[in-house]
Amino acid sequence: MGTRRVLVTGCSSGIGMAVAVRLAKEKGFKVVATMRDLEKRKPLERVAGDTLNRSLEIRQLDACCEDSIRECVDSLQDRRVDYLSPSVSNAGVGMIGPLECQSMSDMQGLFDTNFFGLVRLVKEVLPLSICPSTLRMTLVEPGPVGTEFERKVYEDAEKMDLAGADEETARIFREIYLPYSRKVFNSLAQTPEEIAEQTLQLITAKEPPFRHQTNRVYMPMTALKHADPTGRLPLDTFYKLLFKHDTLFTASLGLLHMLQKRTGKSSK
Ligand SMILES: NC(=O)c1ccc[n+]([C@@H]2O[C@H](COP(=O)([O-])OP(=O)(O)OC[C@H]3O[C@@H](n4cnc5c(N)ncnc54)[C@H](OP(=O)(O)O)[C@@H]3O)[C@@H](O)[C@H]2O)c1
Repeated sequence: MGTRRVLVTGCSSGIGMAVAVRLAKEKGFKVVATMRDLEKRKPLERVAGDTLNRSLEIRQLDACCEDSIRECVDSLQDRRVDYLSPSVSNAGVGMIGPLECQSMSDMQGLFDTNFFGLVRLVKEVLPLSICPSTLRMTLVEPGPVGTEFERKVYEDAEKMDLAGADEETARIFREIYLPYSRKVFNSLAQTPEEIAEQTLQLITAKEPPFRHQTNRVYMPMTALKHADPTGRLPLDTFYKLLFKHDTLFTASLGLLHMLQKRTGKSSK
């Protein structure tokens, strides 16, 4: 097979940057590493090393702007893109907090980037360059990953105006949700490089799966969701662990963290 072109979005940091660099180092790939603001290219240039302008080129692409996506794809020879990587778009933003404290426009903005950003991209690339019968798609589903995403989400949450929520909800969010979700991040987070490595395995697999969860130690948590279609099992389990057996919860996270560290794939 000849050289395959991969278009990666959100390469100014985190998973996108790690994926772009990992694929560029692999023989047989040409990576178009895109970001919405080219002023932020320096960190990528640094980690790209000697792949820069050889197997990795940097271009502008804003996932929320159709013109910017079209311009980027138009600038590629034959408008050909063999892989959009990963199938879950890297260009993304996060949001946590009580629903009643979020503005409609912020929530719509999140969907515009995380969901419609990917839809725009696929619509632009799909009709011309991919034959549907040979199309392979994998949803890469990470658990927590130690990137800027985590820092931004928690910074926003700390500054959040909780006046719109009732007192008990605000207290639970501040005193329970935030510290415990940080604990989960600190214990289970993977590195972006690990996600990049798994993305490479998926892209080069003969029969890639439709879904791929990247974090084995996080799987018991997602398994609860699938084990009970009523949704009671995960809710009851989390409720009991947080509100009744928090020592056990903390100890389990400690154990999982140890396991994660032993594999050398922990971000902390
Ligand atoms: N980290 C996690 O725990 C985690 C877990 C599950 C899923 N994810 C998902 O994984 C993806 C990558 O996240 P990450 O952890 O690598 O976070 P990150 O370090 O914050 O990277 C997000 C990237 O998306 C870019 N971006 C945001 N809006 C964009 C737009 N409109 N057009 C183009 N690029 C845009 C950001 O660019 P700027 O620098 O310009 O803002 C940044 O490069 C996101 O979709 C996130 O939802 C992350």
